Amino acid sequence: MKQAVISGTGLYTPAHAISNEELVESFNAYVALFNADNAAAIAAGTVTALEPSSAAFIEKASGIKSRYVMEKTGILDPRRMAPRIAERPNEELSLQAEMCVAAAREALERAGRTPADIDMVLVGCSNLQRPYPAMAVEVQQALGIDGFGFDMNVACSSATFAIQTAATAVQTGQARAVLVLNPEITSGHLDYRDRDSHFIFGDACTAIVIEAADAATSAHRFAILDMKLKTSFSNNIRNNFGFMNRFDEAGVGQPDKLFKQQGRKVFKDVCPMAAEMIKGSIASAGLEVPQISRYWLHQANLSMNQLISRMILGRDATADEAPVVLDTYANTSSAGSIIAFHKYQDDLAAGAYGVICSFGAGYSIGSVVVQKL
Ligand code: COA
Repeated sequence: MKQAVISGTGLYTPAHAISNEELVESFNAYVALFNADNAAAIAAGTVTALEPSSAAFIEKASGIKSRYVMEKTGILDPRRMAPRIAERPNEELSLQAEMCVAAAREALERAGRTPADIDMVLVGCSNLQRPYPAMAVEVQQALGIDGFGFDMNVACSSATFAIQTAATAVQTGQARAVLVLNPEITSGHLDYRDRDSHFIFGDACTAIVIEAADAATSAHRFAILDMKLKTSFSNNIRNNFGFMNRFDEAGVGQPDKLFKQQGRKVFKDVCPMAAEMIKGSIASAGLEVPQISRYWLHQANLSMNQLISRMILGRDATADEAPVVLDTYANTSSAGSIIAFHKYQDDLAAGAYGVICSFGAGYSIGSVVVQKL
């Protein structure tokens, strides 16, 4: 078996940002419109009045201050509350493939690789723009990569699960190098009319090059020492959007066809699962917790990350040990831990150890122990 390394990462950040204040202003305008439109029914007690949102609550409950999105005006329009993005003709590069290409170019550059060096493309994310042809095959064509590609969806854990698939292909010699992409257009599945979750997500795309250690030459190499994956069924994070929706017209457009979660239950269930997995993978790599310099955790909620860190370390993690990007990116689903990894790795000394960890719907949890070379 060959040793697999991460040799380069890339990040595409959308051009538009929405602050909590802007988001709340539009949400509260929607609430005022809804309550005015339904005033008679609310007075008669047949409709419940909607409550306003608050920027202070959002920051306190989640740690999120702002998020990036592919399109802003449609989201902030209180009569629409969804991005306004025109369909493209089939001859044009798809939006999700475009994000992938941008992130891929940076990852390839950091890896010191060209598309000719890649044999396999994996697109892993929570929401795919279409069922087929696979986004990965379109990205493969756009970059001029020979070989093969396919898409996979393990929700917020899509990146760690894709790293595992890619590293295995490299270890077994099936591919010289693999390009992993996580294009998250989470604004597509977020219900901006839902007070409990309208602030949670942001859009972004990450890219990772994984190749054999004996061939890798970049200055950004991390050896993959251990990979662990776990899934355990839960309805606490769910999205019922799918190709069978048109079989039952009554359900079309209902809120369950977007992201829905029982946030408190998720918090309670997932934190111990993630902490246990991280401790297990550190031990499997032959290491002990004090040897780990950095935790690149999934970026869903600041309190979740603080609790997971405490469960592992027995104390609060410093900002250096568990870097935070969700304050400006919000929850970018599978891209979150990789954004943290991409932005907070160049300062590590050769020999330093770190853990990438994702967690989310499924439930799904993934952990990857790496060493800076
Ligand atoms: N503005 C103002 N108040 C709000 C609000 C908003 N946007 N949304 C909810 N509230 C209120 C609620 O009505 C509730 O009021 P009450 O106590 O009077 O009933 C109170 O704030 C607490 O609501 P709750 O939903 O229980 O908040 P929370 O502290 O659990 O935080 C989440 C909600 C979603 C931020 C939090 O549960 C979470 O992040 N969980 C982790 C799940 C996650 O991130 N999943 C992603 C995939 S891993």
